Amino acid sequence: MFYQELIVLSFLIALVSGGTRKSNNTCTEYGYILYPGFAALDVFGPLEALAELSMITPDLNLTIIAETLDPVPSVKASFWTNPENATVWEYVVLTHTFETAPVDVLIIPGGIGSRAPPPTLNTTIDFYLITVCTGAGIAARAGVLDGKHATTNKRAWDQTIALGPKVKGVPQARWISDGNIWTTSGVAAGTDGFLAWIEAIYGSATAKTVSDGMEYERHLNSTDDPFAALYGLADANNGTNPS
Ligand SMILES: *[C@@H]1O[C@H](CO)[C@@H](O)[C@H](O)[C@H]1NC(C)=O
Ligand SMILES: *[C@@H]1O[C@H](CO)[C@@H](O)[C@H](O)[C@H]1NC(C)=O
Ligand SMILES: *[C@@H]1O[C@H](CO)[C@@H](O)[C@H](O)[C@H]1NC(C)=O
Ligand SMILES: *[C@@H]1O[C@H](CO)[C@@H](O)[C@H](O)[C@H]1NC(C)=O
Ligand SMILES: *[C@@H]1O[C@H](CO)[C@@H](O)[C@H](O)[C@H]1NC(C)=O
Ligand SMILES: *[C@@H]1O[C@H](CO)[C@@H](O)[C@H](O)[C@H]1NC(C)=O
Repeated sequence: MFYQELIVLSFLIALVSGGTRKSNNTCTEYGYILYPGFAALDVFGPLEALAELSMITPDLNLTIIAETLDPVPSVKASFWTNPENATVWEYVVLTHTFETAPVDVLIIPGGIGSRAPPPTLNTTIDFYLITVCTGAGIAARAGVLDGKHATTNKRAWDQTIALGPKVKGVPQARWISDGNIWTTSGVAAGTDGFLAWIEAIYGSATAKTVSDGMEYERHLNSTDDPFAALYGLADANNGTNPS
């Protein structure tokens, strides 16, 4: 099932890669790819920032994208044996399928559902791509991170970075940008990475208005990453693929 979803992801990237990357603050079409087993904060942290941004920036649209318009759960019980009988996930309503979504900025969250066999993709990304957490693994398998400096969740570093042998993995980073490709570390780091992207595109005053609106204290130093040390990646070269 996930394999099929990622195959369809390849069509999305092939389709939207025909667009021209917009400069500075002319991005209006934001797309979020969801799949069963996405991590909630990977999605809703940046979306809170986008909501704030939309109050001071005209004409922003959000599309929530998946293979079909069936609601997508953040976690599927079938991923776990779930002996505690938890029902702590939520379903999100989709707005677009891969074939119909307009995209200036595509965001791919991480989560337990991001592990899947490799898709074959068009590696031309002419829009902004932002991955959160193990969402980098989806992009890495697609080949779109080849030759790029990228980071991902530190606890899931080894298995995620192994998905992209040509990716220049940077362990000591809360987020990192390489041209139009932005990748962030785990979960909450996605909000800081997205706010840093907002700052780069819309300016620091806008980013401050957005984070103040969220009453969010940003991490401003992209290389201040205690989770690299926590998970044994403090050596900047440890875990980095040869480049
Ligand atoms: C990949 O995207 C580029 C840019 O839109 C396009 O020129 C090319 O034909 C696409 N390749 C495939 C195999 O779809
Ligand atoms: C985005 O929203 C604006 C209104 O705010 C609308 O005019 C425009 O058509 C929308 N773009 C797309 C691609 O839906
Ligand atoms: C979970 O549900 C199953 C089936 O209803 C039940 O047998 C089991 O005792 C439940 N587990 C817990 C920890 O409540
Ligand atoms: C982008 O827009 C922001 C806010 O208007 C401005 O501060 C910044 O200089 C612009 N950057 C470029 C590269 O044009
Ligand atoms: C950013 O954090 C790193 C790692 O803690 C530190 O070495 C560096 O000095 C910090 N940079 C700034 C500008 O504070
Ligand atoms: C390098 O990272 C691995 C886990 O990826 C860890 O087992 C090892 O201890 C780390 N080595 C150093 C020198 O940090």
